[in-house]
Amino acid sequence: MSRIRSERRGSVELLTLDRPKVLNALDRATLEELLDCCGRLGADTSVRAVVLTGEGRAFVAGADIAEMRGLDAQQAEVFSRLGHAVMDALESLAVPTIAAVNGYALGGGCELACACDWIYASEKARFGQPEVNLGLIPGFGGTRRLVRRVGSAWAKELVLGGEPIDAETALRIGLVNRLFAPDALLESALDAAEKIAGKGPLAVAAAKRVILQGQDADARTAHALEQAAFGEISGGAERAEGMDAFLEKRDPSFKDR
Ligand code: CAA
Repeated sequence: MSRIRSERRGSVELLTLDRPKVLNALDRATLEELLDCCGRLGADTSVRAVVLTGEGRAFVAGADIAEMRGLDAQQAEVFSRLGHAVMDALESLAVPTIAAVNGYALGGGCELACACDWIYASEKARFGQPEVNLGLIPGFGGTRRLVRRVGSAWAKELVLGGEPIDAETALRIGLVNRLFAPDALLESALDAAEKIAGKGPLAVAAAKRVILQGQDADARTAHALEQAAFGEISGGAERAEGMDAFLEKRDPSFKDR
C-alpha cells in the first residue's frame, strides 16, 4: 500500500505523507518510497517545484518507533543511512522544495522538513527533536541541518533538551519562514511554489546548487562556484529569453529544464 500520495498541481508536485493513524511516522517502506519519489522527480523536467506535507494532524511525528524498537546496533545504522539517503536526495533535487508543516514535525519529521529548502507552517505546528526522551539521538541529519538553520545554541537546546517548541518560537528562531492559519497553509505553499514555477528553471536550479555546494565550501571556493555558474547560465537561451522579455516589456516564456 502506498504511503505517499503524489499529485500534480500545474507545474508543482504535491507529496502528501499518508499514514495518519501513526502520525505519518517514517518506517523503512515510507523512506524507500520517498527515495523513489525523489528519483522520479529528479528525472521529470516538467516539475518545477515540490510541496511536501502530511495527512491528518501531523506532518511527521518521527521515525517509526515500533519498527526501530526491534533493530540492533548494526540494523539501526543501516536505517540511519537510509534516512540520510532520503534527506540528501530531497535536499539535492534541482527544483525548490517547500515543507508545508501542518502539525507535529518531531524527530525524523523535523529532519525531513529541514531537508526541504524552506518551511511554511501552520500556527498549530509543533517542532522538536525528542530523541533523547527515547534514549536516542537524531538519525536523519538533525545534528547538522538543524544547526545550519537555527544556529548551534538553539539546535543544542532542541536536541539535548528534547522538548518541543511551538510554531511562533520556530518562526522567531528562523526554523520556519512563514506561519499561516491551518486552513490557509497548503494553498499558500502551493501558490508560492507555482510562482517559482514561472521563473527560469535553469536559473533556479543553478542558484539552488550554488547555495547548497557553497555552504560546505570556504569563501573563495563558494565565490568561484557562483562565478562559474553565473557565466554558464549567461550563455544559455533561458537568460536570453528573460532579458529579451524585460527589454520588450512582456512576460518571459521559459522552457522546461
Ligand atoms: N512512531 C510510531 N508510531 C507513532 C509515532 C512514531 N514516531 N508517533 C506517534 N505514533 C503513533 C502512536 O503510537 C499512536 O498509535 P496508536 O493509536 O496505535 O496507539 C498514534 O500514532 C497516535 O499517537 P498518540 O496517541 O501518541 O497521539 P498524541 O496526540 O497523544 O501525541 C505525539 C502525539 C506528542 C506526537 C506523540 O505521538 C509522540 O510523542 N510521538 C513520538 C514522537 C517522537 O518521539 N519522535 C521521534 C522518534 S525517533 C526519531 O525520529 C529518530 C530519528 O531522528 C531518525
